[in-house]
Order: sequence, then structure tokens, then C-alpha cells
Amino acid sequence: MSGEFTSIDEARERLGGVGYLADEPASLVSFLAARLGKPVLVEGPAGVGKTELAKAISRATDRRLIRLQCYEGLDEAKALYEWNYRKQLLRIQTEAADTGWQEVKDDIFGEEFMLARPLLNAISAEEPVVLLIDEIDKTDQEFEALLLEVLSEFQISIPEMGVVEARTQPLVLLTSNNSRELTEALKRRCLYLWLDYPTIERELEIVRLHAPELDQAVARKLVEVIHMVRSLDLKKPPSIAESIDWARALLLLGAEDVDQAVLERTMSIIVKHRTDLDLVAERVGVKLGDGLFGRQAG
Ligand SMILES: Nc1ncnc2c1ncn2[C@@H]1O[C@H](COP(=O)(O)OP(=O)(O)OP(=O)(O)O)[C@@H](O)[C@H]1O
Ligand SMILES: [Mg+2]
Repeated sequence: MSGEFTSIDEARERLGGVGYLADEPASLVSFLAARLGKPVLVEGPAGVGKTELAKAISRATDRRLIRLQCYEGLDEAKALYEWNYRKQLLRIQTEAADTGWQEVKDDIFGEEFMLARPLLNAISAEEPVVLLIDEIDKTDQEFEALLLEVLSEFQISIPEMGVVEARTQPLVLLTSNNSRELTEALKRRCLYLWLDYPTIERELEIVRLHAPELDQAVARKLVEVIHMVRSLDLKKPPSIAESIDWARALLLLGAEDVDQAVLERTMSIIVKHRTDLDLVAERVGVKLGDGLFGRQAG
């Protein structure tokens, strides 16, 4: 099946079919986004599946994925388009000396001399696309303002060429890690999805999807340990990405249990700060050593 999702349940199923286990809010927003023609702002901690949701929607709906990775200092030239100065210059040099300015100008401000960047590519695409604007919080407010125009009008105006209007409405997902508060103006135009760490059961499903060969009991204990680690006051709690890495590592190491020794040897896969390592060894390691873990974690 391809094309738009026709219900929330169908969205959940088709996302599952391409390897993304969406919860209720994520399925709902995925369904509504295309129906309402609204961009979706996805926020949440690192590694909870924000970027992957956009990729999964692209796979499930057969829309090509166009990705704009944001960073500090990202500007129009890298997000929308820029003129290919070198090529323009070369062209000017090869024009005959008596060519008039108007002629030269008409020549060098055409599509051939333009470098289209992700936003223009998404707007001018002939077929329906998913536009992922990843980590929007890394840019400044000026860039957000520029984006507002594109997202509300679905058009880009190029002074030398005119207005490029979207032929098919792109499905837009913006992600943010909350490193700064986004403007109200941007939020108003978007549907909002807060992705949080999953429940034990859902995370177990996700881990099993990514490391199917791992023993069931080991996988469950791993996820329980991860949840316990997250409940500590850490600088950087482990994400889903780290649970998956840990599962794959335990598989390679042939671990048959997640006990104190295994935790101590492999802890650096899930926690990556000196002080966090100490805290986890002390609080979780000891519990695993005492055999108290199962009873406490339920
Ligand atoms: N619901 C899910 N179903 C299947 N896999 C998932 C799910 N959520 C997360 N993952 C997996 O977790 C990993 C991390 O996801 P992703 O990179 O999308 O996180 P993120 O929120 O964009 O993180 P960051 O903020 O660091 O960019 C990926 O390998 C992804 O496949
Ligand atoms: Mg991401």
C-alpha cells in the first residue's frame, strides 16, 4: 500500500511495516499532517526517534525524503538556493564582447546557473515529498522567519525568476531538541508532537525489532536496566539509540544475562559522562550484584 494514511490505525500499521513502532500520539499526528496540510514540529530528548519518524513516514507513504540538516549560521544560500557564480562568470567570459547586458542577464539568471538547496527542491518537486527540517533549534530566529514564509505559503520567490509555487504539497516535519525555545509564530503554524522515552513494553519491542536474535529474557532485563538508569539524575540519560546499541553489543559478546559484571564491562555504551558512569555503577551495578534488581524493577 502507498499514498496517504487513511486512518490513525492504518498510519500505525504502515509505520510498523517499515520498522517504526509509533505510539498513539505519533500515529495521530502522522495521519493528520497530510490531511490538514500542516507541518509537524517534533520535540523531545535526544535519540527518541524524531528523525526516524520522518524517514519512516517517507518510506511508508512512498514519498521521497528531502532533508535539511540545520546548524548554527545556516542561511538562505544553503537552505533555499544560490547562484552558481563561477559558472555565471565563465559564461560571461565566453560571451562575445558585443553582447548586450540584457542578453547576458537573461542568460545567466536561469535555472542552469542556479544551485537549488533542500527547501527549493522540496517546493519544486514534481512528486509528493517528505521534507525533514532536522534540528531547527540549532538555527537562529532569523532563519525561522524565513522558514515561516515557505511553510505558510508553500512558495519561494526568486527576484530574478519569479515565484516558484509548490506543485504538490510537501509533508513537512521539523525536529527540535529544545536547545532553545522556538518562536510562537512557528509553533502556531505547526501540529505538535512531543516524543518521550517509551514505556518498557514499547522499548522492548523496538529493541527486539533492531536486535531480533537477542534472547527475550536478556532483552527484557536490558530494557528494565535502561529504565532504571534513566530514573537516576544523570547528565545524559541513555536514549533508544543507546538501548539498541547495547542490545547489539550484548549479542556480539554472547551475554546470557545482564548482571553486574556485564553492566560494568559495557556501561560505556549507554552512559557517556564520567560522573554518570560512577553513579550507574554505584546505584544499578550494586543492585544487580545483590540480586535485588528483578524485585525492585518489577
Ligand atoms: N518508535 C521507534 N521504532 C523503531 N525504531 C525507533 C523508534 N524510535 C527510535 N528508534 C530508533 O532509535 C534510533 C534513534 O532515533 P533517531 O535518530 O530518530 O532519534 P532522534 O530523536 O532524531 O535523536 P537526536 O535528537 O539525537 O537527533 C534510530 O536507530 C531509530 O531507528
Ligand atoms: Mg535526530
